[in-house]
Amino acid sequence: MTIGIIGSGAMGAGIAQVAATAGHPVRLLDQNPAALEKARAGIEASLRKLMEKGKLTAGAAAATLARLHFTSTMTDFADCGLVVEAIVEDLAVKQQVFKQVEEIASADCLLASNTSSLSITAIAAACRRPERFLGIHFFNPAPLMRLVEIVPAAQTRAGLAEEVKALVTSWGKTPVLAQDTPGFIVNRVARPFYGEAIRILEEGIADAATIDWALTELGGFRMGPFALMDFIGHDVNFRVTEAVYAGFFYDSRYRPSLTQQRLLAAGYLGRKAGWGFYDYAPGAVPPTPRRDAKLGLSILHRVLAMLINEAADALYLRVASREDLELAMTTGVNYPQGLLAWADALGPAQVLATLDGLYHEYHEDRYRASPLLRRLARDNQTFFSV
Ligand code: NAI
Repeated sequence: MTIGIIGSGAMGAGIAQVAATAGHPVRLLDQNPAALEKARAGIEASLRKLMEKGKLTAGAAAATLARLHFTSTMTDFADCGLVVEAIVEDLAVKQQVFKQVEEIASADCLLASNTSSLSITAIAAACRRPERFLGIHFFNPAPLMRLVEIVPAAQTRAGLAEEVKALVTSWGKTPVLAQDTPGFIVNRVARPFYGEAIRILEEGIADAATIDWALTELGGFRMGPFALMDFIGHDVNFRVTEAVYAGFFYDSRYRPSLTQQRLLAAGYLGRKAGWGFYDYAPGAVPPTPRRDAKLGLSILHRVLAMLINEAADALYLRVASREDLELAMTTGVNYPQGLLAWADALGPAQVLATLDGLYHEYHEDRYRASPLLRRLARDNQTFFSV
């Protein structure tokens, strides 16, 4: 099957590499010739690196490159069986592009968007045949990240998500099925990792280095929330939070923070700007955390309870299955274990007690416990026992 990809930026180029490596002829389209050149150079460099690491033979790398066709004309999509869009995050622009694709592609060509924050259903609504449309959400960098969220629109025909899951599995990826709701799985469930950590900082309970220490050293997370936000970039991270917050009709649980907004306003975007929560200037001395186990554990349990609550609510509201929720968080953001299994290990009653303690202290809706967590705690059950 020939695959068409629109947008040759960070994501489009990565997805093109994945599909071509899996053996598909790929047409990678961009309106900007410089972006196409950059994508070609980037894919070549990435394949070279994989060769050096012994993960790809020289023959396979050459064959992959030969399967890639860089183009600026959509007529090249006429023989595609699947077209994946990875252009600018703008609903009207995406809808317009799919109208153009439908003029050229065959009637049974599958259509997909890689959007992170827009409604798949809203994009599909612009299509003449929305039943063949769905979300295929890769993570950055697509050639290295295993997780792919498959998101059917309200209009998607029954069975298509399963077909696309099989296709993506054949590419060596780990697909999970998510409902078309803001943030899908990962970008929704992960919000408190950032938001609650910032809240703890704002309250003066601990500084960034201490909170990062608690989450990494005591919690086993690969990066602490502040180091991770600096790595992602505050522009990107804040935009995702804003989109999820707006998407949930301004549910206070997802409210963005003024602290992060201020970093953004100042241009302190994180590592790429040389300054974020931390100073990245050459020779800058990293701040020392306060290694107080009691304080650290209370921070960890607060953030963890909020994360578990988010996962529990996503399960409760049927955003995804428990298996897919666990897979999404362990492969999409490398959490040390699935949040539901983590809740089971701690005991749902203990997690609920942490949340109810916060709710009691602050009287904020932000800390309301998921009905599912409350039910499990009441019935002395666990997520994986029911
Ligand atoms: P990017 O800015 O790196 O690349 C976008 C590319 O699309 C540019 O090369 C641009 O010239 C091209 N483009 C824009 N409008 C076009 C049009 N009408 N026709 C043809 N080409 C057009 O963006 P990035 O980061 O690759 O994101 C693309 C999509 O993937 C967005 O929807 C984003 O939400 C989503 N996404 C991004 C992730 C990330 O970490 N960057 C992760 C997962 C999804």
